[in-house]
Amino acid sequence: KTLDDIGNIDGKRVLVRVDLNVPVAGGKVTDATRIERIAPTIAELSGKGAKVILLAHFGRPKDGPSPEFSLEPIAKATAEVLGRPVGFAADCIGDAAASAVAAMNNGDVLLLENTRFYKGEEKNDPDFTEKLAANGDIFVNDAFSAAHRAHSSTEGLAHLLPAFAGRTMQAELDALEKGLGNPARPVVAIVGGAKVSSKIDLLMNLVKKVDALVIGGGMANTFLAARGTDVGKSLCEHDLANTAKQIMIEAAEAGCAVILPIDGVVAREFKAGAASETVAISEVPADTMILDVGEKTVKTVADWIDRGATLVWNGPLGAFEIEPFDRATVAAAKHAAARTKAGKLISVAGGGDTVAALNHAGVADDFTYVSTAGGAFLEWMEGKPLPGVDVLKR
Ligand code: 3PG
Repeated sequence: KTLDDIGNIDGKRVLVRVDLNVPVAGGKVTDATRIERIAPTIAELSGKGAKVILLAHFGRPKDGPSPEFSLEPIAKATAEVLGRPVGFAADCIGDAAASAVAAMNNGDVLLLENTRFYKGEEKNDPDFTEKLAANGDIFVNDAFSAAHRAHSSTEGLAHLLPAFAGRTMQAELDALEKGLGNPARPVVAIVGGAKVSSKIDLLMNLVKKVDALVIGGGMANTFLAARGTDVGKSLCEHDLANTAKQIMIEAAEAGCAVILPIDGVVAREFKAGAASETVAISEVPADTMILDVGEKTVKTVADWIDRGATLVWNGPLGAFEIEPFDRATVAAAKHAAARTKAGKLISVAGGGDTVAALNHAGVADDFTYVSTAGGAFLEWMEGKPLPGVDVLKR
């Protein structure tokens, strides 16, 4: 059920789970994308006269309340981004929350303090969930990026109150459905990032679902080494050689093409502006490390993107955070963005570094959809159930 089904909410107290787990440095929010994404749901609920009560976590506090993990500064940032007053209550349950809610007028927006200040949150403890539910008549979950957690505020509440997906949750799920659920074929996946070990489940699932899998980033080295290529001093998980081989076997059985780098940008040091050269992947000097894929590989990736009707992307092709090792990621991202703009490609990207890489390439807005989710995007791509989503479907 979405907000289309929510009915008359004039004067109702609507508890809205949002993801305000935003990056903060020196007390300032450094990327407000997640705050921007909750704006449509809040505007819609408030516009219909609801009392909008936001529930969120921030960081991973271990020992109860602490100023370091307080959402109070985020309430201020949220007010700035949304361009409207956002109240703050210093607790998410109990008297402080109840009295702040009681003081709300219709259409007001209030943020309650970090739900993770209580152990009950992560335990999905029924008593804690009931205390949260006491402040609401209706539950809306707009935090796809926290939906892989079965916590009180992401899962438990949906059992106690009438529950609906918010607009961002809906947009995320629609985009993911287009990307892997019921995609236009052929589907091409690009998976990069440093380590195979963090993405084994992802790769195993993808080879069964997509038509071509491009493997880049540090993890490609493990596949190259498993195939017998000498990768010099590159980051490589030699102990995962058999896993890499198994993934390639499963891909072959499923008819999924696996595309590995054919050339690489190598350097002796991993630092900005380090002397680098492009070499064939069979000729990586023993004292160098591969820090990006080369131009020939980029050309191959672009060709595969051209053949695809759908692209799903997780993880950069090289060490994009340091120039000049950002070139392949930027070039491939621009190519995918241009195909998308031309109406020839549905492109869905997400997970940790991916958003930063696409922002760095300046093309995040040109993709069909860029998910703000990290772990949730990955788990969804791995084919795992997301408790916060499943409970809404039930
Ligand atoms: C995220 O930042 O990916 C979500 O907010 C979930 O945070 P968590 O990994 O601490 O549960």
